[in-house]
Amino acid sequence: MRQQLEQLSHVAESELTQATTLTDLEQVRIRFLGRKGTLTQLLRGLSSVDPAERPLIGDLANRIKESFNQAHAARLETLQQQELETSLRREAVDVTLPGRDRLPGGIHPLTRAVEEISGFFRHAGFVTATGPEVESDWHNFEALNIPADHPARDMHDTFYLPPGPDGRRRVLRTHTSPVQIRFMEGRQPPLRVIAPGRVYRCDSDITHTPMFHQVEGFMVDKGVSFGHLKGLLEAFLRHFFARDLPVRFRPSFFPFTEPSAEVDMGCIFCQARGCRICKGSGWIEVLGCGMIHPVVLKNVGIDREVYSGFAFGLGVERMAMLKYRIDDLRTLFDNDTRFLRLHATV
Ligand code: FA5
Ligand code: MG
Repeated sequence: MRQQLEQLSHVAESELTQATTLTDLEQVRIRFLGRKGTLTQLLRGLSSVDPAERPLIGDLANRIKESFNQAHAARLETLQQQELETSLRREAVDVTLPGRDRLPGGIHPLTRAVEEISGFFRHAGFVTATGPEVESDWHNFEALNIPADHPARDMHDTFYLPPGPDGRRRVLRTHTSPVQIRFMEGRQPPLRVIAPGRVYRCDSDITHTPMFHQVEGFMVDKGVSFGHLKGLLEAFLRHFFARDLPVRFRPSFFPFTEPSAEVDMGCIFCQARGCRICKGSGWIEVLGCGMIHPVVLKNVGIDREVYSGFAFGLGVERMAMLKYRIDDLRTLFDNDTRFLRLHATV
């Protein structure tokens, strides 16, 4: 028995030194000291040992256990230390790496343009109004003198929505002009209003995006003339661009104004010589305008014999494009940080 004990102890201690992980080490301990461990099983035979020798064997067994425990504790500490070092190495932070920049937030060029446009007209005594982006056919078209089968509807590339609970067709508004109707319904002149907002058309190329912004403006009072409209818009464009870009009023058609005009600015990308952005014309259209049609005034209950008014609808992206030299409108909505860093202001 003495020999067997010494043999066991020898095996166990050499296994301890061979254990390379904490799990290995625990396995060695269980194999030796566990309930079914080799030492435990051997000591079950103690009763068959000569009684005179039993205390000596017992004593030896205790010393072997103690020596094993000490060797185990030492190995445990070494392995724990090793595991700690490995995990520290794995999770190491390289403090010499350069830090990551936190990009400062900025104001998007479109927000800036809307604010500058609205600011000018507020100073001229216009108040701000808004309207819904999901609009009724009446406000977006009918009340603006665009009946269902009117060819002018084709100009708008409308996104139609399924009918609402009342069975009436709704649309994503194609322009901000329905705010004219909403504001004038139930109010009487004098009125001076601007209405900035998002509008939608099924359209996409370098000068068109399916969602874009307009700022509507209108004024209704006694004696308002086309001269007032032209003077105001020219003053605004001079102010907004802070330099003399060529401007032209071009006769046009809108069912809700008469007479109507569109305003073009000289193309800054080719000095009006003609390029792919202005489609070779040398001009970029920025807004539509005119004298509010008598039918529209009648639709909202304003006496056309007493009052007259003008209205205009500016394309904000086009204004931003010309002011900040953005050669593709769609980049305004890509959120490319290189673009934003260049054009967003703090
Ligand atoms: C209108 O939307 C009229 N409601 C403007 C108006 C208001 C006329 C009041 C008379 C009285 P038009 O479809 O031309 O008009 O659009 C106005 C401006 O929006 C254009 O001059 C252009 O600058 C801009 N625009 C039109 N379509 C797009 C588009 N897809 N992407 C970006 N800008 C656009
Ligand atoms: Mg137009």
